[in-house]
Amino acid sequence: MIGYVICGSFCNFENSIKVLEKTAEKFGDVVPIMSYNAYSTDTRFGKAADFNDRIEKICKRKIVHTLSDAEPLGPKIKLDLMIICPCTGNTLSKLANGIYDTPATLAAKAHMRTSRPLLISLATNDALSGNIENISKMYVRKNVFFVPMRQDDVKSKPHSLVCDFSLVEEAAEKALSGTQMLPLFI
Ligand SMILES: Cc1cc2nc3c(=O)[nH]c(=O)nc-3n(C[C@H](O)[C@H](O)[C@H](O)COP(=O)(O)O)c2cc1C
Repeated sequence: MIGYVICGSFCNFENSIKVLEKTAEKFGDVVPIMSYNAYSTDTRFGKAADFNDRIEKICKRKIVHTLSDAEPLGPKIKLDLMIICPCTGNTLSKLANGIYDTPATLAAKAHMRTSRPLLISLATNDALSGNIENISKMYVRKNVFFVPMRQDDVKSKPHSLVCDFSLVEEAAEKALSGTQMLPLFI
Protein backbone atom coordinates (compact mmCIF):
# COMPACT_ATOMS: atom_id res chain seq x y z
CA MET A 1 0.00 0.00 0.00
CA ILE A 2 1.31 3.44 -1.01
CA GLY A 3 0.56 6.80 0.64
CA TYR A 4 0.22 9.67 -1.83
CA VAL A 5 0.38 13.15 -0.33
CA ILE A 6 -0.65 16.24 -2.29
CA CYS A 7 0.36 19.72 -1.11
CA GLY A 8 -0.59 23.18 -2.38
CA SER A 9 1.56 23.53 -5.48
CA PHE A 10 -1.63 24.06 -7.44
CA CYS A 11 0.01 24.62 -10.82
CA ASN A 12 1.28 21.04 -10.56
CA PHE A 13 -2.03 19.37 -9.69
CA GLU A 14 -2.51 18.04 -13.22
CA ASN A 15 1.06 16.66 -13.18
CA SER A 16 0.39 15.09 -9.80
CA ILE A 17 -2.87 13.49 -10.92
CA LYS A 18 -1.09 11.88 -13.88
CA VAL A 19 1.51 10.44 -11.50
CA LEU A 20 -1.27 9.31 -9.15
CA GLU A 21 -3.01 7.45 -11.99
CA LYS A 22 0.23 5.63 -12.85
CA THR A 23 0.90 4.88 -9.19
CA ALA A 24 -2.59 3.43 -8.71
CA GLU A 25 -2.23 1.32 -11.88
CA LYS A 26 1.12 -0.01 -10.76
CA PHE A 27 0.61 -0.53 -7.03
CA GLY A 28 -3.15 -0.98 -6.76
CA ASP A 29 -3.89 0.34 -3.32
CA VAL A 30 -3.07 4.02 -2.88
CA VAL A 31 -4.15 6.11 0.11
CA PRO A 32 -4.63 9.75 -0.94
CA ILE A 33 -3.68 12.37 1.64
CA MET A 34 -3.94 16.14 1.22
CA SER A 35 -2.72 19.16 3.14
CA TYR A 36 -5.44 21.46 4.46
CA ASN A 37 -4.62 23.99 1.75
CA ALA A 38 -4.49 21.47 -1.08
CA TYR A 39 -7.83 19.95 -0.02
CA SER A 40 -9.76 23.17 0.37
CA THR A 41 -8.37 25.95 -1.86
CA ASP A 42 -9.96 26.96 -5.16
CA THR A 43 -7.40 28.59 -7.44
CA ARG A 44 -7.08 29.65 -11.06
CA PHE A 45 -5.90 26.09 -11.71
CA GLY A 46 -9.24 24.60 -10.68
CA LYS A 47 -11.80 24.02 -7.95
CA ALA A 48 -10.82 22.00 -4.90
CA ALA A 49 -14.00 19.89 -5.02
CA ASP A 50 -13.34 18.87 -8.64
CA PHE A 51 -9.76 17.80 -7.92
CA ASN A 52 -10.86 15.97 -4.80
CA ASP A 53 -13.51 14.01 -6.73
CA ARG A 54 -10.98 12.98 -9.36
CA ILE A 55 -8.46 11.88 -6.73
CA GLU A 56 -11.03 9.83 -4.83
CA LYS A 57 -12.19 8.15 -8.05
CA ILE A 58 -8.62 7.19 -9.02
CA CYS A 59 -7.83 5.79 -5.56
CA LYS A 60 -11.33 4.42 -4.86
CA ARG A 61 -10.86 5.81 -1.35
CA LYS A 62 -11.76 8.93 0.59
CA ILE A 63 -8.99 11.51 0.91
CA VAL A 64 -7.26 11.72 4.29
CA HIS A 65 -7.53 15.43 5.09
CA THR A 66 -7.67 15.66 8.88
CA LEU A 67 -5.05 15.18 11.58
CA SER A 68 -7.03 12.37 13.18
CA ASP A 69 -7.18 10.40 9.94
CA ALA A 70 -3.50 11.07 9.15
CA GLU A 71 -2.11 9.97 12.52
CA PRO A 72 -2.67 6.18 12.10
CA LEU A 73 -0.75 6.09 8.80
CA GLY A 74 2.33 4.59 10.38
CA PRO A 75 1.74 2.98 13.73
CA LYS A 76 -1.55 1.31 12.68
CA ILE A 77 -1.68 1.39 8.86
CA LYS A 78 1.76 0.53 7.51
CA LEU A 79 2.54 1.92 4.08
CA ASP A 80 5.33 0.50 1.91
CA LEU A 81 6.17 3.96 0.60
CA MET A 82 4.88 7.50 0.99
CA ILE A 83 5.19 9.88 -1.96
CA ILE A 84 4.70 13.62 -1.48
CA CYS A 85 3.79 14.92 -4.93
CA PRO A 86 3.93 17.84 -5.19
CA CYS A 87 5.76 18.89 -2.03
CA THR A 88 5.60 22.65 -1.38
CA GLY A 89 8.35 24.73 0.17
CA ASN A 90 6.01 25.17 3.14
CA THR A 91 5.63 21.42 3.75
CA LEU A 92 9.34 20.73 3.15
CA SER A 93 10.33 23.35 5.72
CA LYS A 94 7.88 21.96 8.27
CA LEU A 95 9.17 18.40 7.83
CA ALA A 96 12.79 19.56 8.06
CA ASN A 97 12.08 21.42 11.28
CA GLY A 98 9.78 19.04 13.10
CA ILE A 99 6.46 20.82 12.54
CA TYR A 100 3.53 18.48 11.95
CA ASP A 101 0.40 20.61 11.98
CA THR A 102 -1.26 19.52 8.73
CA PRO A 103 -2.56 16.14 7.52
CA ALA A 104 0.34 16.07 5.00
CA THR A 105 3.10 16.66 7.54
CA LEU A 106 1.56 14.49 10.25
CA ALA A 107 1.09 11.61 7.79
CA ALA A 108 4.76 11.93 6.80
CA LYS A 109 5.84 11.98 10.44
CA ALA A 110 3.69 8.95 11.28
CA HIS A 111 5.08 7.11 8.25
CA MET A 112 8.70 7.98 9.12
CA ARG A 113 8.22 6.26 12.49
CA THR A 114 8.12 2.98 10.58
CA SER A 115 11.55 3.55 8.91
CA ARG A 116 9.96 3.02 5.52
CA PRO A 117 10.81 5.23 2.53
CA LEU A 118 9.49 8.75 2.02
CA LEU A 119 9.85 10.20 -1.50
CA ILE A 120 9.70 13.99 -1.92
CA SER A 121 8.69 15.49 -5.29
CA LEU A 122 9.59 19.10 -4.68
CA ALA A 123 8.15 22.10 -6.52
CA THR A 124 8.92 25.46 -5.00
CA ASN A 125 10.29 28.80 -6.08
CA ASP A 126 12.27 29.31 -2.86
CA ALA A 127 14.23 26.06 -3.15
CA LEU A 128 17.52 27.82 -3.76
CA SER A 129 16.83 30.65 -1.28
CA GLY A 130 14.90 30.19 1.99
CA ASN A 131 14.49 26.43 1.60
CA ILE A 132 17.95 25.37 0.49
CA GLU A 133 18.97 24.33 4.00
CA ASN A 134 15.77 22.31 4.36
CA ILE A 135 16.55 20.34 1.20
CA SER A 136 19.89 19.36 2.70
CA LYS A 137 18.35 18.64 6.11
CA MET A 138 15.91 16.19 4.51
CA TYR A 139 18.42 14.78 2.03
CA VAL A 140 20.64 13.47 4.82
CA ARG A 141 17.75 11.87 6.73
CA LYS A 142 17.50 8.11 6.74
CA ASN A 143 14.79 6.69 4.45
CA VAL A 144 14.13 10.06 2.77
CA PHE A 145 14.59 10.37 -1.00
CA PHE A 146 14.02 13.09 -3.60
CA VAL A 147 12.73 12.89 -7.14
CA PRO A 148 15.40 14.41 -9.43
CA MET A 149 14.74 18.10 -9.97
CA ARG A 150 15.83 21.02 -12.09
CA GLN A 151 15.86 24.80 -12.21
CA ASP A 152 12.74 25.25 -14.31
CA ASP A 153 13.09 28.95 -15.18
CA VAL A 154 16.38 30.57 -14.23
CA LYS A 155 15.40 33.96 -15.66
CA SER A 156 12.09 34.68 -14.00
CA LYS A 157 12.33 32.26 -11.04
CA PRO A 158 16.06 32.06 -10.25
CA HIS A 159 15.52 30.27 -6.92
CA SER A 160 13.00 27.73 -8.16
CA LEU A 161 13.43 23.96 -8.35
CA VAL A 162 10.78 21.61 -9.74
CA CYS A 163 11.02 17.84 -9.77
CA ASP A 164 10.69 15.95 -13.03
CA PHE A 165 7.25 14.40 -12.64
CA SER A 166 8.02 11.79 -15.32
CA LEU A 167 10.68 10.36 -13.00
CA VAL A 168 8.51 9.83 -9.93
CA GLU A 169 7.79 6.21 -10.84
CA GLU A 170 11.46 5.30 -11.28
CA ALA A 171 12.48 7.26 -8.16
CA ALA A 172 9.74 5.38 -6.25
CA GLU A 173 11.14 2.01 -7.32
CA LYS A 174 14.60 3.09 -6.22
CA ALA A 175 13.28 4.45 -2.91
CA LEU A 176 11.55 1.12 -2.27
CA SER A 177 14.92 -0.57 -2.60
CA GLY A 178 16.58 2.03 -0.37
CA THR A 179 18.44 4.07 -2.98
CA GLN A 180 18.34 7.67 -4.13
CA MET A 181 17.81 8.15 -7.87
CA LEU A 182 20.72 10.11 -9.37
CA PRO A 183 21.63 12.58 -10.65
CA LEU A 184 19.62 14.61 -8.15
CA PHE A 185 19.85 17.80 -10.22
CA ILE A 186 19.13 17.36 -13.92
C1 LIG B 1 -2.05 29.33 -7.28
C2 LIG B 1 -1.00 28.97 -6.27
C3 LIG B 1 0.11 28.25 -6.67
C4 LIG B 1 1.09 27.90 -5.73
N1 LIG B 1 2.17 27.17 -6.15
C5 LIG B 1 3.10 26.80 -5.26
C6 LIG B 1 4.19 25.97 -5.67
O1 LIG B 1 4.30 25.55 -6.83
N2 LIG B 1 5.10 25.62 -4.74
C7 LIG B 1 5.02 26.04 -3.44
O2 LIG B 1 5.89 25.69 -2.64
N3 LIG B 1 3.98 26.80 -3.02
C8 LIG B 1 3.02 27.18 -3.89
N4 LIG B 1 1.96 27.95 -3.47
C9 LIG B 1 1.90 28.39 -2.08
C10 LIG B 1 1.36 27.29 -1.16
O3 LIG B 1 0.08 26.88 -1.58
C11 LIG B 1 1.31 27.83 0.29
O4 LIG B 1 2.63 28.04 0.76
C12 LIG B 1 0.56 26.90 1.21
O5 LIG B 1 0.67 27.41 2.54
C13 LIG B 1 1.10 25.48 1.16
O6 LIG B 1 0.47 24.69 2.12
P1 LIG B 1 0.76 23.13 2.23
O7 LIG B 1 2.24 22.96 2.14
O8 LIG B 1 0.24 22.77 3.57
O9 LIG B 1 0.04 22.49 1.12
C14 LIG B 1 0.96 28.30 -4.38
C15 LIG B 1 -0.17 29.00 -3.98
C16 LIG B 1 -1.16 29.34 -4.92
C17 LIG B 1 -2.38 30.06 -4.45
